[in-house]
Amino acid sequence: MKIAVLPGDGIGTEIVAEAIRVLDALDLQFEMETALVGGAAYEAHGHPLPEATLKLAKESDAVLFGAVGDWKYDKLDRPLRPEQAILGLRKNLGLFANFRPAICYEQLVGASSLKPELISGLDILIIRELTGDIYFGQPRGRRTAVDGHFPGAEEAFDTMRYSRPEVERIAHVAFQAARKRSKRVTSVDKANVLETFQFWKDIVTEVGKEYPDVELDHMYVDNAAMQLVKAPKKFDVVVTGNMFGDILSDEAAMLTGSIGMLPSASLNSSNQGLYEPSHGSAPDIAGQGVANPLATILSAAMMLRFSLNQPEAADRIESAVKSVLASGLRTGDIWSEGTKRVGTREMGDAVVAAITKKTITG
Ligand code: IPM
Ligand code: MG
Repeated sequence: MKIAVLPGDGIGTEIVAEAIRVLDALDLQFEMETALVGGAAYEAHGHPLPEATLKLAKESDAVLFGAVGDWKYDKLDRPLRPEQAILGLRKNLGLFANFRPAICYEQLVGASSLKPELISGLDILIIRELTGDIYFGQPRGRRTAVDGHFPGAEEAFDTMRYSRPEVERIAHVAFQAARKRSKRVTSVDKANVLETFQFWKDIVTEVGKEYPDVELDHMYVDNAAMQLVKAPKKFDVVVTGNMFGDILSDEAAMLTGSIGMLPSASLNSSNQGLYEPSHGSAPDIAGQGVANPLATILSAAMMLRFSLNQPEAADRIESAVKSVLASGLRTGDIWSEGTKRVGTREMGDAVVAAITKKTITG
């Protein structure tokens, strides 16, 4: 099994280092190879997704990704910005299905800005389509921007589009995921205004007929944004397009207390996947050793489960994380009165210790 390790920028290197230590502690046989991506790759090779990095990702069973981006690259022409690396990986590897679970850990109920009773026990799964929509519309690559901006331009546009096979395959992913959960899918659209999302809604409805055991409802994205903070536990699986999924998944993440806790998986049709925390590169705290590595560590667990066929190892990581939280250790983002504040490295140490202890005691 081969894992491509792409730490990227900002806190990416710090949090991926902890995930690697956790993987090492499992004593499984992996081949891991590290490469530059994002701003770090731009500095070294003049491109955020160098040919060698893409090649490594393609020939690996899974990619463990940190984060990319820094405000200092805002002046670069868009194709050279760090974010293009993650978009390029998604597109080139065909990673169309993005799983973003939002699970509220009982110990962290107090860290959410919502009332405890609204989020206690929350376990929802956002499934975001990842290689279509306005993110990959027609004008991409035919821009006339100067330093990434449009001085004096009279208009700018991005086209929103989906094809039938694109919507069908993500709908199947959602219904199949719902079958393993509470058998409910909410498809989020903007069919009242956008043709693309009327089309989306029609196709999801059609595919839904093949899953009579799964309950399907539809919700406009503005209402979904509202319902997510009003009564989040009413949702189970939420399936939506690339743009709405980007926004709603950040919102859902924050319900759980911290985006620093949430992993994600992006899969293609052969279960090759890219695994990354749901959060970004946080340049404001980079290099300080204070970032929460748990989202990345939990992403490594998803990687073991979805792409590397090691579900027991994934369970071991997840229960180690739970026991570390139960022991009261917290990074700054999830700290609250009465818990112990630790840094990135100490949090990684604690998860490694919990895993090794479990191995010894069976
Ligand atoms: C995400 C991020 C990316 C996106 C950026 C970094 C391109 O926000 O993974 O949610 O918009 O998809
Ligand atoms: Mg996002």
